[in-house]
Amino acid sequence: MRSESQPGGALPDPPSPETPIAPAPASGDLDLVATIRDEILRDGPITFARFMQRALYEPGHGYYVAPEERPGRTGDFLTSPEAHWLFGRTIARQVSECWERLGRPRSFAVREYGAGSGALAAPMLAGIREESAGAFAATRYEPIEANAHRLAELRAALEQERLDDRLSPGDLRAAERPPEPQAGFTGVVLANEFVDAMPVHRVERREGRLVEVGVAWRDGRFVDEPMPPSTPELEAYLERAAVQLAEGQRTEINLGIRPWFAQLAEEMTRGWVFVIDYGLPAAELHSARRRQGTLKAIARQQVLADPYADVGRQDLTAHVDLTALELAARDAGFDAVGRTTQGRFLVALDLGSLLLEAQRRASSVNEALETRSAAMWLLDPRRTGGFAVSVFGRDVPLEPPLRGLADPTARATCRRRP
Ligand SMILES: C[S@@+](CC[C@H](N)C(=O)[O-])C[C@H]1O[C@@H](n2cnc3c(N)ncnc32)[C@H](O)[C@@H]1O
Repeated sequence: MRSESQPGGALPDPPSPETPIAPAPASGDLDLVATIRDEILRDGPITFARFMQRALYEPGHGYYVAPEERPGRTGDFLTSPEAHWLFGRTIARQVSECWERLGRPRSFAVREYGAGSGALAAPMLAGIREESAGAFAATRYEPIEANAHRLAELRAALEQERLDDRLSPGDLRAAERPPEPQAGFTGVVLANEFVDAMPVHRVERREGRLVEVGVAWRDGRFVDEPMPPSTPELEAYLERAAVQLAEGQRTEINLGIRPWFAQLAEEMTRGWVFVIDYGLPAAELHSARRRQGTLKAIARQQVLADPYADVGRQDLTAHVDLTALELAARDAGFDAVGRTTQGRFLVALDLGSLLLEAQRRASSVNEALETRSAAMWLLDPRRTGGFAVSVFGRDVPLEPPLRGLADPTARATCRRRP
């Protein structure tokens, strides 16, 4: 149950002889603040990844489990699928091609991580139905979504379009639940703005050593607390990615990517994984130009300064390390098939023709203009058009390239697993 407390309310330290009650700036879901605070008071400072896990996903309280709209036009931020159905409709072309390239399997899974309210699924499945009756008949859509409210919306969105027969019961599950025992699947995995919402560790170089930036509770609020790295994996990752942090430089490391790919490798027999997100290769992401890292708090369409404010009521996100994605995918047995930008990907899949058709069918000049401006937003390299589309394959043909990777620059990173 969510706290009745108002945003901006304050939670004091629990009274004790050692801890005088101080004016307390901690704010947000005060029940959530209290449980995280109590963990710290009991066990000592926690990693930022632990704080982020609880702030975003604590059952009944976390930002991503609450009923409020998160991505969306009236939500805290806008994602590509929420911006316009053209996104999902264009992705349908790529998914249909994957079905063809896999030899038209009779059972074809389309698994979407962080499926949200179905803003990608509904137009994508409708698009597959339009593109190819065979692909549509074979498709089994598997949304993986932590938020039960979003899942109810997703089901309603599919029902409205008479697409819910593509959804098998039992497919509605959260990613962290152990995988249901199932035969390996053949198909496609999609993750749009999912990886950036995974908890990250924050690290910093101080006096030549790697230090983890943990979270402590002091004077009624959460504060940064330097601590020894909680796991050798942090230093090991930086070494493997050949990243040298400058003195005083802070950055984030997402250790959740490896187990995610390892689980995918266990479950996927053949197919492609498409990760669409804002991100950069390690050399750029962790370059000394970015001294404070990329961690951001977001609410009401604004980037906010304090990751510890409004706990459970603001999003926390960090850029995706594209090198970490590639290393984890290859270690798990996937080929790195290619990487491109969202804009190039959508152009290669001929979003233009779908836009023309949508404009022709628009019922008003306003609708036509809105469609056009949403399409520009999807393509613009300064907006979501600049997001990275990273594509990985397992037991799939690398040539000819997938249609979305037609741009020659898209395959510069293509690597077969050694
Ligand atoms: C930034 S939103 C993106 C939603 C959607 N993909 C879109 O682009 O509009 C991230 C979504 O991932 C879901 N999510 C995050 N971590 C998850 C996890 N471990 N398991 C399942 N869903 C998760 C959140 O609930 C949220 O709906």
